[in-house]
Amino acid sequence: MERIYNFSAGPAMLPLPALKKAQEEMLNYNNSGMSVMEMSHRSKPFEEIIGAAEANLRQLLNIPSNYKVLFLQGGASLQFAMLPMNLAKGKSADYIVNGTWSKTAMGQGKTQTTVRACWDGSADNFIRTPEDSELDLDPNAAFVYHCCNETIQGVQFQKAPKTPDGVPLLCDASSDFLHKPIDINDYGCIFACAQKNIGPAGVTIIVMREDLLERVPEGLPSMLDYKLQDSKGSMHNTPPTFAIYMVKLVTDWLINDIGGLANMYEINKRKAAMLYEVVDNSDGFYIGHAKKECRSIMNVPFRMQTPEMDAKFIAEAAQNGLCTLKGHRSVGGCRASIYNAMPEEGVVALRDFMVDFQKKNG
Ligand SMILES: Cc1ncc(COP(=O)(O)O)c(C=O)c1O
Repeated sequence: MERIYNFSAGPAMLPLPALKKAQEEMLNYNNSGMSVMEMSHRSKPFEEIIGAAEANLRQLLNIPSNYKVLFLQGGASLQFAMLPMNLAKGKSADYIVNGTWSKTAMGQGKTQTTVRACWDGSADNFIRTPEDSELDLDPNAAFVYHCCNETIQGVQFQKAPKTPDGVPLLCDASSDFLHKPIDINDYGCIFACAQKNIGPAGVTIIVMREDLLERVPEGLPSMLDYKLQDSKGSMHNTPPTFAIYMVKLVTDWLINDIGGLANMYEINKRKAAMLYEVVDNSDGFYIGHAKKECRSIMNVPFRMQTPEMDAKFIAEAAQNGLCTLKGHRSVGGCRASIYNAMPEEGVVALRDFMVDFQKKNG
C-alpha cells in the first residue's frame, strides 16, 4: 500500500527517512542484537541515544548552556499543571488566552495558583494574537504564559511577546517546535509534546532556564518536580525510550537532510503560502479562520459555505490520498496541518485538489 498524505494535527506524519532508519534498526540496533524498545534505559547505547537527542536539540535551537533540556511524560497537558506547581511560588500568573490550548492551560493553572488573563481573544472567537501594547501585564506576576501556535484556531505569534523585567515567559510550542529558528533567550521555559513536529506521542520536551529551578518548592511528588527530574537526567523512572529514540532520528533528519531550521522555515513558508493563496483567491469559496497577519504556517483551518460542502470536500480529498482534513469540532470545517514532515509534494497535491474542487463545486 502507498503512503498517504496525512494532514492530522497530531499524532502527525513523521519524516520518511526517520521511519526508514527506525525500520532498518528495529530488530538489531547498532549490533546490540536487540531493538531499542527492548533495551535498558540505563544501558550505554540508550544513554548515547538520549545524549544525542539532547545534543541535536541544542544544535538546532542554539540552546544556551544555562538552559536545561528535559524529556518528560504526561504530554503537553501535564506541563499545564507542572509549570504553575513548580514556578508560581504562591504568586499570581498571567496568561495570554488566544485559543483553546492557552485557555485550557489557564484552567489548569488555576488548580495551582491565582491566574489572570492578561489578554483574552475569546470574544472574537480567537482569530488573532495580541500586540504587546494590548497586554495588561502584572509586573509582579510569577510568569507570563502563552501558546505560540494555537493548533485548533491556526493562530500563531510572529514573535515572542514582551514581558515585564524579571518576569519569565513560558511557551507551549507543541505545534510549532523546531519549525523555524528562535531565540531561546526570549523564554524562561518552552515546551512541546512530540507527536506533532518532533516524534511519536509519549515524550514531551522541556527547555528551561536553570535559575527557574530554584523556584521549585520542597515536597512535590517526585515525578512532578523539575529539579528532581533534572538531577536524574530525565530518568527518575523509565523514560519513553522508543519515543526519545525517534526524537533523535527526527532531529538527525532536520540536521542532515534539511540542513537546519533556517532551511526548514523556508520550506514551511512556501508550503503555507500555497494553501493560503488558494483561500485568498477563491472569491469566498474557501473561508479562512485567523486574521491574515496572525495565520499559522503549521495549521491551516478553512471552511466552505455549508457543513455539507465541507463533508464532501473531506470525503473526496480522502479518496485522493489527502487524509485527516476534518477541522476540530470547536471550529468546524477543515484543517490542514502541515508540520515539518509534510513534504512539499503533499501540499502541492492538496492545493491542486482545492483548486479543482472549487471549479467543480463553486
Ligand atoms: C498547542 C497544544 N498544546 C497542548 C496539546 C495537548 O497535548 P497532549 O495531548 O500531549 O497533552 C496540544 C494537542 O494535542 C496542542 O496542540
